[in-house]
Amino acid sequence: MLKDDIMYIDVSERITDLALIVYVKSLLYPSRIVNYDVLYSRIKELRKLGSIKFLHIRGNPVILGKGHSSIVVMVRKDGLDLALKIRRIDSNKPDFYEEVRYMKLANSINVGPKLYNYSSNFILMEYIRGISIGKFLRINQLDKNKVGRIIYQILLQGFQLDSINLIHLQLSNADKHIIIKEKKTFILDWGKATISSSRSNVSQLISFFFISKKPWTNMLLKIFEIKDIKGVLNAVRRYKKKRDKSTFIQLINVLNLDNYGAAGI
Ligand SMILES: Nc1ncnc2c1ncn2[C@@H]1O[C@H](COP(=O)(O)OP(=O)(O)O)[C@@H](O)[C@H]1O
Ligand SMILES: [Mg+2]
Repeated sequence: MLKDDIMYIDVSERITDLALIVYVKSLLYPSRIVNYDVLYSRIKELRKLGSIKFLHIRGNPVILGKGHSSIVVMVRKDGLDLALKIRRIDSNKPDFYEEVRYMKLANSINVGPKLYNYSSNFILMEYIRGISIGKFLRINQLDKNKVGRIIYQILLQGFQLDSINLIHLQLSNADKHIIIKEKKTFILDWGKATISSSRSNVSQLISFFFISKKPWTNMLLKIFEIKDIKGVLNAVRRYKKKRDKSTFIQLINVLNLDNYGAAGI
């Protein structure tokens, strides 16, 4: 992507033909038929969130990702690059309000991208310029300390979320939902989250990293010298029963991750 090719469309300005192309591709995704009523009502809704500029390259919005409920594009507001999550036209959810409620809860303990603004069909949030956890593990597999620090940080966030009963529910297959930016980890997408005192983010994350047969499972078991998988499963079981600090630390110890910060919690 050449920097010179990037242009901006300001939603607060008059709708030009080029702007229309960008809006149809983002605000009406994945529809190919233009429903002007829906389009204009979405533009009106978006204008209430302030002077947002869509980035585009020759009429194509800069897409950060797509999911079952949304398309996420890059926008600019007050000089900042932000991510705008747009509810898909074919989404089976009525609005984003529940997702925002959980995102706010996560933000209250400094987890996830920061929420900037929202409305029924939009979530404006911090843009995380980073790489997925799967890619991070592939690139850094020879750097045990770097991998250890990141996995510990993710498990700690899982524990902090467990402590407020906020369960993400998409972490047993988290590759699309954990992004690493420099040394920080971000858990994305609160669209399926729920409040539960019996389920656990930590146990879903342990399964994602160490139990299910993912491309990184064997590498992680090897570099952290985990030979006793039964011991790990027992520690997870004990943790799930109590979900407290002491069983979390025991779990971190069984995974040989105690060098990366467990003493500090
Ligand atoms: N704040 C963000 N910064 C960068 N990329 C993001 C951000 N939020 C979402 N994405 C990208 O968009 C994709 C879809 O977002 P997600 O919230 O998972 O939508 P859905 O609820 O439709 O599954 C993510 O997998 C990720 O690649
Ligand atoms: Mg998703």
